[in-house]
Amino acid sequence: MIKKIFKWTGITLAGVAFIATCTYAYMSFSMKSRMSKPYVFEKETLTIPKDSASIARGKHLVAIKGCQDCHGNNLEGRVMNEDGAIGRLVASNLTKGKGGLPANYDVSDWIAALRHGVGRGGRPLLFMPSHETTLLSQQDMAALIAYCSRIPEVANVLPANDLGPVAVVMSYLGKMPLLSVEKIDHNRPMIARADSAEGVGQGKYLAVSCSGCHRENFKGGEPLAPGFPPVPDITSTGHVGKWSKEQFIATLTTGKTPEGHVLRNEDMPWKMTAQYTQTELSSLYQYLQSIR
Ligand code: HEC
Ligand code: HEC
Repeated sequence: MIKKIFKWTGITLAGVAFIATCTYAYMSFSMKSRMSKPYVFEKETLTIPKDSASIARGKHLVAIKGCQDCHGNNLEGRVMNEDGAIGRLVASNLTKGKGGLPANYDVSDWIAALRHGVGRGGRPLLFMPSHETTLLSQQDMAALIAYCSRIPEVANVLPANDLGPVAVVMSYLGKMPLLSVEKIDHNRPMIARADSAEGVGQGKYLAVSCSGCHRENFKGGEPLAPGFPPVPDITSTGHVGKWSKEQFIATLTTGKTPEGHVLRNEDMPWKMTAQYTQTELSSLYQYLQSIR
């Protein structure tokens, strides 16, 4: 009798292991084919400004859009993660130094990456938040390209991306933003320019950068990855709803909430939000408070 139970448990376990292996093999195969699917978009261009105000605007955008959090302080590229579970995630060297972008990387290449989420030859970019940069206005996109294409060269040769099993499964389940090319509405025309006056309009434009973590409705949700804190609601129905504008600004510039909670920059990138101007933070506050 006991022997029989053991036998059946053994068979059941072997069956479960077999099904798990097949499911993983299927997910891995599916993700590999999605990652290697080439995309073709019509070449686009923009007039790139050369004046110092536009270049300063481009530099500000690099700071407030978190480009440096992933691509490094000098945009020289870096290995963002390397472990057995998630795998190796690498943000490109965006300079023209060794290991960086090719010397003839031009405006249409920048647009392909920032607006469509593809690299040269239509290769889908992995983990690059192009579904957010695609929402930049033409004016900002041009300023960003103007600044990025004149940053000093840094030699930094990087290894290739190599997804681990947790990243494969989470991406397959749509819990990790692996392929922004699949999420973008590629026919959506770019707006010419964004609201630059303080108010809800400017806040809404800026809040795109918060939606990746705080969700599209800014009501938060499950942790972004196992082992991370849950993501809070940052609308009027969350803590933010009880904060004054001054408290909101202090939180996003010091990383400490009015309740005394200390935000780790790795969880909530407050060193990025600290670089927003007072006007931009005030607009973000007004916009988030307007959401019921
Ligand atoms: C969440 C991390 C993250 C952020 C934030 C981010 N990037 Fe990236 N970016 C990546 C990764 C990872 C890649 C490499 C993708 C690949 O090779 O598949 C990449 C690729 C690129 C590429 C394509 C380069 C190539 O090799 O073809 C450009 C251009 C780029 N990023 C520009 C930017 C700019 C400008 C910003 C800020 C507005 C930015 N990125 C913000 C992660 C990020
Ligand atoms: C990379 C993901 C990420 C991005 C991008 C991000 N946040 Fe957060 N944010 C978090 C996480 C995670 C927490 C909770 C951290 C904790 O509990 O320690 C948090 C906490 C906060 C808090 C504190 C809320 C509370 O109830 O205490 C505020 C306010 C906030 N974020 C605002 C913003 C705004 C505004 C933006 C966009 C400009 C933004 N965040 C972008 C992940 C992010």
